[in-house]
Amino acid sequence: SAAEKGGYQHFMMKEIHEQPKAVRDTIFPRIKEDDVFIHELRMTDEQIKDLKKVFIIACGSAYHAGVTGKYVIEELSRIPVEVDLASEFRYRNPILEDNTLAIIISQSGETADTLAAMREAKRHGVRTLAIVNVVGSSIAREADDVLYTWAGPEIAVATTKGYTSQLSALYLLALHFGKIREKISRSDYLEMIQELKSLPDKIEKMLQDKEKIQYLANQYIGLKDVFFLGRGIDYASALEASLKLKEISYVHSEAYAAGELKHGTISLIEDGTLVVALVTQEQLYGKIVSNIVEVKTRGAFVLAVTNEDNKDIEKNTDYVFYIPKTNKNFTGLMATIPMQLFAYYVAVAKGCDVDQPRNLAKSVTVE
Ligand code: G6P
Repeated sequence: SAAEKGGYQHFMMKEIHEQPKAVRDTIFPRIKEDDVFIHELRMTDEQIKDLKKVFIIACGSAYHAGVTGKYVIEELSRIPVEVDLASEFRYRNPILEDNTLAIIISQSGETADTLAAMREAKRHGVRTLAIVNVVGSSIAREADDVLYTWAGPEIAVATTKGYTSQLSALYLLALHFGKIREKISRSDYLEMIQELKSLPDKIEKMLQDKEKIQYLANQYIGLKDVFFLGRGIDYASALEASLKLKEISYVHSEAYAAGELKHGTISLIEDGTLVVALVTQEQLYGKIVSNIVEVKTRGAFVLAVTNEDNKDIEKNTDYVFYIPKTNKNFTGLMATIPMQLFAYYVAVAKGCDVDQPRNLAKSVTVE
């Protein structure tokens, strides 16, 4: 009913708007007096210092959160991170050695492959930490430790607040590990804590600008293919943006690490092809701009999602959505919001069943 949807037309839009709260509720209880506390993770500082490897294991969007997590955890804590699809991990006889932590990410806590992969890790004696939203779910019950995301119930099949609260949990973990392992300076640590606290307000700000995305999406009802490009963390965001679009609007899309363009995707660019370039990593700015120029030369229409002061990008693109500035490790959470809105508005404009896309389930409890 309309009341259940909080006045929104779809659960997905309601849940998109619940993100400031979901992110706040996941982050704030774990920050006290400018320090991150993750009391759920019952590892000693020694054990965290001794970590040789982290596996992140998940399916679907949770896997994309894991890809983002790899970049951020490696950057802040210098622990090698391997990200695996649960359905691959469980059957590939993974090499699991001492001092390994397996982080299992699942909104529902019931995904069959993810649960099986976690059991496989445990069978090898690897410690498991689950990042889960549904309290008391199977994965939450069986994991050694659980870090709950406090997104509240998610109804729409396509995850939104579930995903961004997973990113929030991963950011906290990365900071926690980085601090204990002494890989972050005190001033960077404090700056990042402040940034984490400001994320909910920044999401709110972007949501107020949603008509800009709607305007653009409405011009793309006849859309056939979209290519999402990014480098580094923006590549991880591109994976999620592409999944979001295809799952609810049935538009074919691909995410490409921008440097790989020349090894394939560029042959698919024609006059009018939509390319979405995610551009939040300042250290890679020049690199992605040259990829943008390459696709523009071949006729692509380019939408850039970039940090608010990158006005320069307007020279090489057709449409720009500006996201609030944040620490470079946390931009994935910013860039995801307009991409959720874009997928949503394209799906609505096409008359798709946004909350219940064909052939998909909220939680895949069979293999
Ligand atoms: C399904 C959902 C996705 C979700 C994936 C993993 O495919 O449609 O939105 O990302 O399962 O679900 P989980 O509950 O394990 O995060």
